[in-house]
Amino acid sequence: MESLDKKKILLIISGGISAYKTLDLIRNLKKRECEIKTILTESAKEFVTSLSITSLSQNKVYENHFDVNNELEMDHITLSRWSDIILIAPTTANLLSRLANGSADDFISTVVSASNKDIFLVPAMNVEMWNKPATKENIKKLHSYNYKFIGPDSGDLACGEVGEGKMSSINEIEKTLELYFIKKNNSFKNKKVLVTAGPTKEYIDPIRYISNESSGKQGYEIAKKLLDAGFDTTLVTGPTNINYPKELKVIKVIAAEEMLQACQKLLPVNIAICTAAVVDFSPEYKKEKLKKITLLIMI
Ligand SMILES: Cc1cc2nc3c(=O)[nH]c(=O)nc-3n(C[C@H](O)[C@H](O)[C@H](O)COP(=O)(O)O)c2cc1C
Repeated sequence: MESLDKKKILLIISGGISAYKTLDLIRNLKKRECEIKTILTESAKEFVTSLSITSLSQNKVYENHFDVNNELEMDHITLSRWSDIILIAPTTANLLSRLANGSADDFISTVVSASNKDIFLVPAMNVEMWNKPATKENIKKLHSYNYKFIGPDSGDLACGEVGEGKMSSINEIEKTLELYFIKKNNSFKNKKVLVTAGPTKEYIDPIRYISNESSGKQGYEIAKKLLDAGFDTTLVTGPTNINYPKELKVIKVIAAEEMLQACQKLLPVNIAICTAAVVDFSPEYKKEKLKKITLLIMI
């Protein structure tokens, strides 16, 4: 079975505090006999050294500028042709922005824009940077350009704050890449999977409804992983604001009854994973907005 073993990985390291974690990643990938070539941004050189990366990867480390020797040996186009995938870990907010804008004004951005390979981004940054509208907009664009994302996770951040923006663990990165190569082999393409996610909304009248606090995140993550593994995956989801890859088949519903019907239409499936928090009470729907007193009597 196709796996991560012996793959050629072009690793780009940008200048975030989590850059040190990529040293362990390189060690693990080397144990799997991967061949790794690395490019460092100028900022990344403040966090990790070319010397440690060359020693661990037993391969060349490229600097982020055009260089006659580099171009002679392996130019910006050949480098992406050589690789099986491009992995950018960590990906800074700055690099996300540059990629989202299609920059091609240094070695890394030119390699990426000339690439014909799948590109995995592993964002890592402070929670406020991650939540900035500009970053969110960049993420949305990059999803639509087919970049693949690993993380970020939530938790204690290196800056001392807590929230979303933590770089995914080395284990998680390896697992995602492993699944990617399994999917390329198409082993699960004939297996149908149904995943349900999110809350449902049961309308009482045109403006009032009963629902719950389900975010839907768990179901979306499961669906994305199954899709990455090559399963023929359909997500049936209640109302959420979660982004999803455009290759994922998504059926959006509102009420529990709609969710039931959407799921029944998809049967038979090989696997069903039901994470949706379906509201277990359906009030009788009134076409006119109810008076407060009527509502109180209902409750
Ligand atoms: C100590 C320190 C830690 C930083 N950590 C991060 C980080 O985790 N994520 C991030 O997006 N930027 C971080 N930055 C800011 C980037 O280094 C800065 O935006 C830089 O311009 C990124 O350049 P690059 O994208 O070319 O690597 C950090 C800066 C400093 C000084």
